[in-house]
Amino acid sequence: MAAPLERLRGARITGWGTALPDKTVTNDDLAATMDTSDEWIVERTGIKERRIGGTTCGLAVEAARAAMNSAGVGADEIDLLILATTTPDQTVPATAPSVQHELGVRCGAFDLNAACSGFVYALIAAHGFIGAGSNKVLVIGAETLSRIVDWEDRGTAILFADGAGAVVLEAVEGRGQLLGWDLASDGSAQPLLYADVGGYMKMDGREVFRRAVRVMVDSANTSLAQAGVSIDDLALVVPHQANIRIIEAAATRLGVPMEKMATVLHRTGNTSSASIPLALVDAIEHGRVHDGDLILLVGFGAGMTSASAVLRWGAT
Ligand code: ACO
Repeated sequence: MAAPLERLRGARITGWGTALPDKTVTNDDLAATMDTSDEWIVERTGIKERRIGGTTCGLAVEAARAAMNSAGVGADEIDLLILATTTPDQTVPATAPSVQHELGVRCGAFDLNAACSGFVYALIAAHGFIGAGSNKVLVIGAETLSRIVDWEDRGTAILFADGAGAVVLEAVEGRGQLLGWDLASDGSAQPLLYADVGGYMKMDGREVFRRAVRVMVDSANTSLAQAGVSIDDLALVVPHQANIRIIEAAATRLGVPMEKMATVLHRTGNTSSASIPLALVDAIEHGRVHDGDLILLVGFGAGMTSASAVLRWGAT
């Protein structure tokens, strides 16, 4: 577990935004081209439809613009940009500099790949940069997973999709919002979920499912212990949006009622690094997040990586 955070300069999220491609692909659309059904997909995953299309850069820019507008922050004020993505538009260079260029932001910009844990990894990294002197950091999760999905593989094509979410993180006086965090990685599980360079995603779905529940619960408990709060103190849990049954199993093991879980996967599918900000912003827009609320973000993904953070919303 990381050391106590009292000595770090604090930060808080002051703006947020999302972007989804225009094209909706329903389960029935998929059933027209592969041996599956709406009933099977909904029962096994909770996904009803997903959005497909665009570029990682384009989606990231749209989400970031919305986040900067909502924070009331101009391009000249951002002093770091972190793009969490598993699907950069090119192998070289990273996609973050293209996002930076389109936004008109002048600062350091880099990609961070921690698969579906990427947004939480990037958010924790951004808190560290603020502790080291940055003032306003753009944290974006953006993916075009449809480009690395084998559309003839019903085991993966039903799950993955495209989208983006972004937040602006600003330095504040005092402790800030981050009360506890955890990052983990187990490279021995690499064969369970991977895509070779230029190849498609391959997955052992059952084993990923089994491990996902365990690592989410372990990571959440580590962050809660560091924050010194109990699961019952949480107002909202924002989990990675992979499969509703994984979310339900993790909720049961953590002892959190499903009403406290933020979910959007029924309409977005699994958007990897974008999934947690998409679910967080959906919860904000539905009035489920209030100043002072304790919120747990918790993700897992290929690697296998896992990551979590306990935030006190709006704290200064
Ligand atoms: N439609 C119809 N039948 C299907 C489909 C489909 N799309 N896919 C598989 N089946 C069949 C299988 O062939 C199998 O048939 P059989 O019994 O005749 O062999 C049967 O359904 C059951 O297959 P399982 O793989 O056991 O189904 P399961 O209930 O495990 O669901 C799923 C599969 C949805 C992939 C599930 O295992 C899962 O969600 N796993 C986690 C995946 C995940 O979260 N991945 C993302 C990780 S995050 C990241 O970093 C990207």
